[in-house]
Amino acid sequence: MNVLGIDIGGSGIKGAPVDTAAGTLLEERWRVPTPSPSAPDSIAEVVRQIVGHFSWTGPVGVTFPGVVVDGVTRTAANVDHAWIGLDARKLFAEATGLDVTVLNDADAAGIAEARFGAGRDRGGLVVMLTFGTGIGSALIIDGLLVPNTEFGHIEIKGQEAEHRASDHAREAHDLSWDKWAHRVQEYLEVIQALLSPSLIIVGGGVSKKADKFLPDIELAGTPVVPAVLQNNAGIIGAALAAVPVAR
Ligand code: BGC
Repeated sequence: MNVLGIDIGGSGIKGAPVDTAAGTLLEERWRVPTPSPSAPDSIAEVVRQIVGHFSWTGPVGVTFPGVVVDGVTRTAANVDHAWIGLDARKLFAEATGLDVTVLNDADAAGIAEARFGAGRDRGGLVVMLTFGTGIGSALIIDGLLVPNTEFGHIEIKGQEAEHRASDHAREAHDLSWDKWAHRVQEYLEVIQALLSPSLIIVGGGVSKKADKFLPDIELAGTPVVPAVLQNNAGIIGAALAAVPVAR
């Protein structure tokens, strides 16, 4: 089944039609800068433009960088607060005239990596962590997602983890790769202690530069690997989420 996947990020909104059986993009992705402020109507307009760019008439999956329950966006740590409590599925469906599924951005990346990327053929508990504007998390157990885990907000040394160890924090505090890797290490140790995962996948924009910090990360008993779908994980996961599951 082909689905248009759209990934709403802090700096760009990217979309492409996805072959959900193969986990591949069918066309080159199309990117529009994220409007600022990131108000619901402005983002919905970009979603409409991306649908128009591909002349898409089929199902659409959209990621959002906050908690999403039944299409309603519940939190907005790094986007306009007007999203809190909003029926985003309805907003996007009305903007595009199409059937839309909405889910958390890290959850989307996690299901894509679990099915087609670094977690492929892995049983047990897989934790995906995305390091970007914030820190996103996805928990996948034997291929099944536990949604909206929000582990980026775990407190470490009196601060939210994403304020210390996101890629944005690295840039904002002008941290060297070594210093930042140390903070990521501290964070992963907490995640390991709380969850004892079989595998941790590190994704988000920073996964492209994994060679700069992953060699410094060491967790006894839990492999830590870079995401392999990189920037396309969100788009592919958004599309996967829109495929009806047979029960
Ligand atoms: C949000 C998460 C999101 C993550 C990455 C966090 O601030 O609370 O929902 O997945 O950022 O965008």
